[in-house]
Amino acid sequence: MVRHRPPVGDGPSDWMDGSLSRMAQAARPQSYFLRSFGCQMNEHDSERIAGLLEEMGLTRAGTPEDADLLVYNTCSIREKADTRLAGHLSTAARLKKERPSRLVAVAGCLAQSRRDEFFGDFPFVDVLVGPQSLHELPALLEQRLAEGRRTGAYAESTTCWSADLPRRRVDGPCAWVQIVAGCSNYCTYCIVPSVRGPEASRPAADVISEVAGLAGAGVREITFLGQNVNAYGKEPGFPGRETFAGLLRAACGVEGIERIRFMTSHPKDMSPELIEVIGGANQVCEHVHLPAQSGSDHILAAMSRRYDRAAYRDLVARLRRAAPDLTLTTDIIVGFPGETEEDFRQTLALVEECRYDSAFTFIYSPRRGTGAAVLPGRLPAGVAEDRMTRLVDLVQRLGRERNEAMVGRTEEVLVERASRHAAGEVMGRTRGHKPVNFPSAAQPGDLVRVELLEATSTSFRGREV
Ligand code: 5AD
Ligand code: SF4
Repeated sequence: MVRHRPPVGDGPSDWMDGSLSRMAQAARPQSYFLRSFGCQMNEHDSERIAGLLEEMGLTRAGTPEDADLLVYNTCSIREKADTRLAGHLSTAARLKKERPSRLVAVAGCLAQSRRDEFFGDFPFVDVLVGPQSLHELPALLEQRLAEGRRTGAYAESTTCWSADLPRRRVDGPCAWVQIVAGCSNYCTYCIVPSVRGPEASRPAADVISEVAGLAGAGVREITFLGQNVNAYGKEPGFPGRETFAGLLRAACGVEGIERIRFMTSHPKDMSPELIEVIGGANQVCEHVHLPAQSGSDHILAAMSRRYDRAAYRDLVARLRRAAPDLTLTTDIIVGFPGETEEDFRQTLALVEECRYDSAFTFIYSPRRGTGAAVLPGRLPAGVAEDRMTRLVDLVQRLGRERNEAMVGRTEEVLVERASRHAAGEVMGRTRGHKPVNFPSAAQPGDLVRVELLEATSTSFRGREV
């Protein structure tokens, strides 16, 4: 259901300086500038926003100055994302003042979570569109042009898949395929369930036909996307009977697809059948992104993660038994309310024990409306920052050690593009998703064997063999 909000920002404001009446007669926008913030899901949504706008006849501009329409696809997961957006919006405000017929649209999670105050805080914004309402964007823009009324759409759950919208993808051998929207886990720190709605899985036939279409267009590697990708098919009311493991097997049967990845997995949904597919299916890469968030049972319970430290360690052991070459990556939050030094040491110990290849590390950021935002025991910023520094040091050391241990091995690399660092070199990735730069005449999409010669904590240099 799409709800058009009462017209919060209706009517010309002083700021707008009477530009609304001019806008009604203004020429249609010819070009757009699109900036995406946040996770891969947002990047993928941005491909659909670009597709919709290009279907309306707009062409992409490289800078905001060159565009008639500015679109920001926003993230609300941490406060930092809000402050970064504010900087971009001040540029948008300046550009709009210079040329009042310019349109500004804000899409994505922040448009959804801040819908009640957005037009008031940013009166130069013309259109707001939440992540479940992207398909409404053309109509909202038309409405703005025809009626001069600021407007928005904020569906609470997924009724129209962004995967069904036109797409403008950067060319290359790798593509995202969304299979699950939303999340029903309500981890207490996380705003995602309230902005992206409850978990909804895409019918398997639609997924496989998208994968086949991508393979036909030259794609060799797909990444299945979902906030909780391995909960695929588990929500009540899902009409199909497919499991995530079954979907992976079906995707392996699509001719031309050499590699399949997926993210993000929740530890509680990592079934034995899925572990078997990760270890056994040729096209499924041995890489699992498995957020631990914390190594302390008491914090995991306060986060409502629904596993404890022992269950997580056991899961990692089973994954490593099934796939000895597994690349394991994770997300960790430090400074969750009530986190003691002892809790944090348990996180460090878990990270050390799991020998992650890399980790995304975050300082806890309270989000309005989430369970954790009202918990006592907020940590002073200095304590959280100190823990973050210690965690990052450990993550980097482990990453370097893991990569150094791979030097001398020959790995299968999928070439993605020409190297940005040196002429005559290309960049590709191992099955474990590690970037390798090496001299080669290979083209994007080629699979080549590469000997790893040198390692940093995040990448390799190599030699084609
Ligand atoms: N504060 C800090 N980190 C967060 N994440 C999600 N919500 C918050 C928050 N409020 C992190 C989690 C999640 C990743 C995508 O972002 O680690 O896995
Ligand atoms: Fe947020 Fe938890 Fe859902 Fe991940 S699983 S999106 S952290 S609520």
